Amino acid sequence: MMSTQLAKADLDYFKRGAWENPRFWNRLGGQPSLHGKKVLDLGCGHGSLCIDMAKAGAARVVGVDINARLIEFAQRNLELNYPELVGRVEFHCIHLAELDEGDFDLMTSKDTFEHVMDLEGVLHEMYKRFKPGGLLYAAIGPLWNSPFGDHDHLKRIFGVNLPWAHLIVPQRTAMRWLSRKMGRELRSYRDLGMNMLAFADYKRIIEQSGFEILFFKPNNSRHPVLRLFALIARIPFLTEYFTNNLYCILRRPLE
Ligand SMILES: C[S@@+](CC[C@H](N)C(=O)[O-])C[C@H]1O[C@@H](n2cnc3c(N)ncnc32)[C@H](O)[C@@H]1O
Repeated sequence: MMSTQLAKADLDYFKRGAWENPRFWNRLGGQPSLHGKKVLDLGCGHGSLCIDMAKAGAARVVGVDINARLIEFAQRNLELNYPELVGRVEFHCIHLAELDEGDFDLMTSKDTFEHVMDLEGVLHEMYKRFKPGGLLYAAIGPLWNSPFGDHDHLKRIFGVNLPWAHLIVPQRTAMRWLSRKMGRELRSYRDLGMNMLAFADYKRIIEQSGFEILFFKPNNSRHPVLRLFALIARIPFLTEYFTNNLYCILRRPLE
């Protein structure tokens, strides 16, 4: 039974990993063998994927996130509820460039790249910390130009999720509304943690990253709506607006 010394909302979010993590792996062709591996999760949040990877036999798991509150939860949850994993799992509230460690076999990043402001730089830092042949499993989305690419922020204004509203309402207007609603000055969706990158940007950044692309799948879902999206996205001028997510597996080339 899980400790109740942690905020219920955080524990509930952590527990969502029980169905999100298997889906993450399934969409990427299944969880690879983690036995004895040294792994890193970028944007680990509450730490659910890190705990799962340690349970699956990883020798060392490093979770990195820039949100101090989430890392504090992840660390406390580890100590209270998974004491047997302490020593194999570590959480750090840092930018990856500050991590003085390398030689990772595998890295994950789930629902995080769309929040990373300097994605080229972070991919470079990941690349440097891999063993040759190391694998990066990433799930990205919802993407900025997709119907709910604002991660539901305008729902706070309209009360319902209106598809593509964030692309229709001028950013200045949206920021004025959201600043008032949230009681702090906002100038851009980037202030709310979204990098606003288009699908074409991710494609270019990944292609130029130096990694080999082993798997690259937009609209990766069995949901009927996303299957329809995948069809519509084949029409070139609609690709951006009907690409909801992107899953990829990248490899640092063998030297
Ligand atoms: C939507 S959450 C996903 C968290 C977790 N991976 C999950 O699936 O539940 C995105 C996370 O990325 C983190 N993040 C954003 N930019 C980052 C960066 N440059 N380095 C590390 N983490 C970052 C945020 O703090 C946040 O915890």
